[in-house]
Amino acid sequence: MVRRFEEQKGESRLKLEEIKILAIETSCDETSVAIIKNGKEILTNIISSQIPCHQKFGGVVPEIASRKHVELINPVIQEALDEASLTLADIDAVAVTYGPGLVGALLVGVSTAKALAFAMDVPLIGVNHMEGHIYANFLANDLEFPVLCLVVSGGHTELILIREHGTYELLGKTRDDAAGEAFDKVARSLGLGYPGGPLIDKLAKEGNPEGVVLPRAYLEEGSLDFSFSGLKSAVLNYLNRAQQKGETINQADLAASFQRSVTDVLVNKTIRAAKQVGVKNVILAGGVAANVELRERLSAKAEDNGLALYYPPLVLCTDNAAMIGAAAYYKFIKGDFAPLNLNALPNLKLGEKKYF
Ligand code: KG4
Ligand code: ZN
Repeated sequence: MVRRFEEQKGESRLKLEEIKILAIETSCDETSVAIIKNGKEILTNIISSQIPCHQKFGGVVPEIASRKHVELINPVIQEALDEASLTLADIDAVAVTYGPGLVGALLVGVSTAKALAFAMDVPLIGVNHMEGHIYANFLANDLEFPVLCLVVSGGHTELILIREHGTYELLGKTRDDAAGEAFDKVARSLGLGYPGGPLIDKLAKEGNPEGVVLPRAYLEEGSLDFSFSGLKSAVLNYLNRAQQKGETINQADLAASFQRSVTDVLVNKTIRAAKQVGVKNVILAGGVAANVELRERLSAKAEDNGLALYYPPLVLCTDNAAMIGAAAYYKFIKGDFAPLNLNALPNLKLGEKKYF
């Protein structure tokens, strides 16, 4: 087994010429394994989605997710190694998402990663899932700090200032629902299915975004926080009223109007935050970063304001292990390794390091 450590002048130094990290992501409903070279090059990124298993329940069933991860994790690791034409002996470190997420789902990845790191005698790296989403941007782009990141996923909506690797300053966050959660709930009330974001994204293309008048929650003057529960209630009230009156509604108009309301607030607050902190580079992260309207409107508005907007390719916006391997690389070069008693932490916060 090759360990890439060299003893030089009594200090442990890392040889950085070619670091291959095997990364595991099992925090929710995707079993994913990637191998990333030097934090940038994706040698393989296998994503085995469990979405069809959860669709008939209208959302992720945690117990089913854990069982599926157990079934899939070893075959997916083997598939990743085969696709990259590598063996475990070529791997320099094992990285894993240890939070936030579903505890049973996280445990499958964490236990597997610990076993692999121990057996292979290579470092173990614990990665925060949201940090992974942010680092998907570093796979695709050469970014210069400082960077403002709009994180929009199923569980998070946050504006974060990043001045250097691994430091996160929270500028604003949602006070109730996350943006992705609002997409999912509105999609469910329209009977579209799960996950709702991509379905609303598609339906909205056929609708008029001014077809239904819906609120925008800008909150108090200057606030960089978000709130989406009022908008969600407005959509539900609109649907209930139409049902009581026996009126048929135009689903595409409602989807387009809802999406416009969400993107208006996200775009305006992101531009305002960038100006407020004087940052020129803006990145988008998380599942909702796949939303076409958000990407297009934020790009246009950023350009108008002399800012550069970056976002990951679609496949790296939703959950995947490549982003975990990218984040892990910067921890590897700092020597920030996790102990073999690393635990799954369902409520892990961004920037928090909790090793027991
Ligand atoms: O980042 P992610 O895959 O998982 C979490 O870490 O939460 O995000 C999933 C969320 C879901 O709420 C899903 O509906 C939303 O991202 N999403 C989208 C789109 N694709 C995924 N929302 C809007 N438009 C999309 N195209
Ligand atoms: Zn995610």
